[in-house]
Amino acid sequence: MIKLFNRNQNSTNETGPGKVIALMNQKGGVGKTTMAYNMAHALGEMGHKVLCIDMDPQFNFSLLFGQDSDSERGNIHHLLINSVRELKALHTDTFLSEAIIKTDKGIDLIPAGQELSGFELSVASINAPRQLILKKFIEQNNLRSMYDYIVIDGPPTLGLLVVNILCACDGVLFPFIPDAFSEQGLKNIHGVLEDIEDMGIVSAPKVLGYIPNLYENRRKKTKEDFEAIKAIFNEGTIFEPFANKASFAKSMANKKSVFDYKANDYKELQGQFLTVARSVESQLGQMQ
Ligand SMILES: Nc1ncnc2c1ncn2[C@@H]1O[C@H](COP(=O)(O)OP(=O)(O)OP(=O)(O)O)[C@@H](O)[C@H]1O
Ligand SMILES: [Mg+2]
Repeated sequence: MIKLFNRNQNSTNETGPGKVIALMNQKGGVGKTTMAYNMAHALGEMGHKVLCIDMDPQFNFSLLFGQDSDSERGNIHHLLINSVRELKALHTDTFLSEAIIKTDKGIDLIPAGQELSGFELSVASINAPRQLILKKFIEQNNLRSMYDYIVIDGPPTLGLLVVNILCACDGVLFPFIPDAFSEQGLKNIHGVLEDIEDMGIVSAPKVLGYIPNLYENRRKKTKEDFEAIKAIFNEGTIFEPFANKASFAKSMANKKSVFDYKANDYKELQGQFLTVARSVESQLGQMQ
């Protein structure tokens, strides 16, 4: 059985009441970006002011917000590098106010860029704690005062970007496809959470729950794998599975959230996302 972490319930954030959550899994294609996008919109529907941060060099999250791959707009990579004094030689004239993309839904985004794939190398030589760069960036810019929720989309890797995300967030959601590969990806991320706890510098984020995705109801193997994974992660909330649905893929292809549609199929998905969002709200609401 995997050990879960109960983040110190009394831990306070000096820089504001906003909460930071991340969608993580080392395994690719499990729905991290899809869930991050729809969770941001679910929290927005609940009246929260939401900032999304794309921390994946593939910048799929940014594409959903209409960002072009060849955009010259500054991105999170530039902002993070600019936030480290020791890296003065690499600083650019990117400002947060210019990098942020605002939508008519009141959900903002700091986009990613391909440069992010060189992040680890760029910060390799600094003396300041490399794993806390994102956390400090959020603090320096008072983002927790400006937003109720900051939703981070993580890359399908285990490296410095992932450690930065886990050190910066209060809670983490794990989308997964019920199969053996995802099981391994989840175990590996739990290993990183343990490493963070062992470092003793910051508390590991609270595990907010697991989101089974691309669930094939009619496949016996899916059910078996799902039961096996449930037995391993039986301490955290396991949300109701999201089925493999064409309507879901269609909304993503149209760069829309499920809240942009009225059909019954989407109503069901809206309900599922609101359930996850309410659970996040109540779990993190206990933290001051
Ligand atoms: N429940 C679902 N039903 C149908 N299609 C889905 C569902 N969930 C996700 N998809 C589709 O699966 C693909 C992968 O999803 P997504 O990009 O969100 O995964 P990811 O974990 O972010 O991938 P990566 O690791 O590459 O960042 C996308 O094309 C998405 O539209
Ligand atoms: Mg993704």
